[in-house]
Amino acid sequence: MFYLKDADPELHQILMREVGRESATLELIASENFVSYPVLEMAGGVMTNKYAEGYPGKRYYGGCEHVDEAENLARDRAKKLFNAEYVNVQPHSGSQANMAALFTFIKTGDTIMGLDLAHGGHLTHGSPVNFSGKLFNVVSYQVDRETGRVNFDEVRKLAKEYKPKLIICGGSAYPRHIEFEDFKAVVDEIGAFLMADIAHPAGLVATGLHPSPMPYCDVVTTTTHKTLRGPRGGMIMMGKDRENTFGVVAPKSGRVKNMSELIDSMVMPGIQGGPLMHIIAAKAVAFGEALQPSFKDYTSQIVQNAQSLAEAFLNKDYHLVSGGTDTHVILIDLTNKEITGKAAEKALEKAGITVNKNMVPFDERSPFITSGIRIGTPAITTRGMKEDQMLIICDLIDQVISDPENDDVISNVISIVKELCDSFPLYDDLLN
Ligand SMILES: Cc1ncc(COP(=O)(O)O)c(C=O)c1O
Repeated sequence: MFYLKDADPELHQILMREVGRESATLELIASENFVSYPVLEMAGGVMTNKYAEGYPGKRYYGGCEHVDEAENLARDRAKKLFNAEYVNVQPHSGSQANMAALFTFIKTGDTIMGLDLAHGGHLTHGSPVNFSGKLFNVVSYQVDRETGRVNFDEVRKLAKEYKPKLIICGGSAYPRHIEFEDFKAVVDEIGAFLMADIAHPAGLVATGLHPSPMPYCDVVTTTTHKTLRGPRGGMIMMGKDRENTFGVVAPKSGRVKNMSELIDSMVMPGIQGGPLMHIIAAKAVAFGEALQPSFKDYTSQIVQNAQSLAEAFLNKDYHLVSGGTDTHVILIDLTNKEITGKAAEKALEKAGITVNKNMVPFDERSPFITSGIRIGTPAITTRGMKEDQMLIICDLIDQVISDPENDDVISNVISIVKELCDSFPLYDDLLN
């Protein structure tokens, strides 16, 4: 069933070049993964055609009986995976999940606290260039210079001083478990909402390899495409639904409702229109995969691989923020090496290894240059790589970073990357 090749050869070639790139390079971007064929099939299926504004059983359009079934399955499976009483699977992305959650619980102009972007937070946690920084009054907390972990003395001090209405925990480059319980103690002292963004460790949370936010947080957001290995998208959850006793007003009716109804109406019509039903159905497929026992083997291997890589880098005198990892992410601080994050990313890319430059805590370089790189193991673990390959990968990265201008080094690394990729094939059926 391949039509693109004849219908639009130009785009077909672009697509095939991307399949080739994904299969022939080492993908170490911590926020990326490779979905299964069934997820790809659903994401590329006919549900892309369907308008379904509203929610299952309450749509503004006819003909929704099958997309309703898919959305109900996505919600039920996500509830089971995360032990959540309420789930909304419609956010188009993690950013939209965060926008809807924030708009539900607080008003523009309110004060929020989130982890500083340069310390591992995310744009939507209060960066001045993002809606969150423009519409809310933001007080950022940071990690401790020595430990690289969230500094709860500082969080508590700032919380008492600025009295935020809501604190966001979680981030994009935080290698350690998110400390939900410690954050809960702080919000209880000041009477604020606690929102967890588990976009990164969601797959680990779903399989019990990372603590669950559900007992502690008022609302939990995630993406579905990182460690959870689903299609690109977002999701909002609550461990327990609760009555809206906070005076939060719904966008349309203004009536007092349960928080679940408020979140639903904030996602649609609050910030989105028609849901992406092909993606929601693909989320359901991915959640079904994540409910299989083999998914826990996969996520355990992700963490073991990240810890093996971390140890290998420490043995080569690399400085890791927080000294290691509990998750799939390691953040390398390159300040003791003679290379910037930007130059490392570029040299590694030439050698067939994809990472991203990343600010490190207390970075003196700009976000365009940076002093660090972030590395993640979800994608290479999907290919089947294990601890032995991690040692090789650490060695390859070290060779490139130690001599980034040396073309002999780069071509030697390219050939080893090729051997590795050939031994752990990806998307062969799409290439042939
Ligand atoms: C912690 C966190 N939250 C939210 C997002 C936003 O997700 P999206 O890119 O789907 O908008 C990301 C993406 O990297 C993230 O790392």
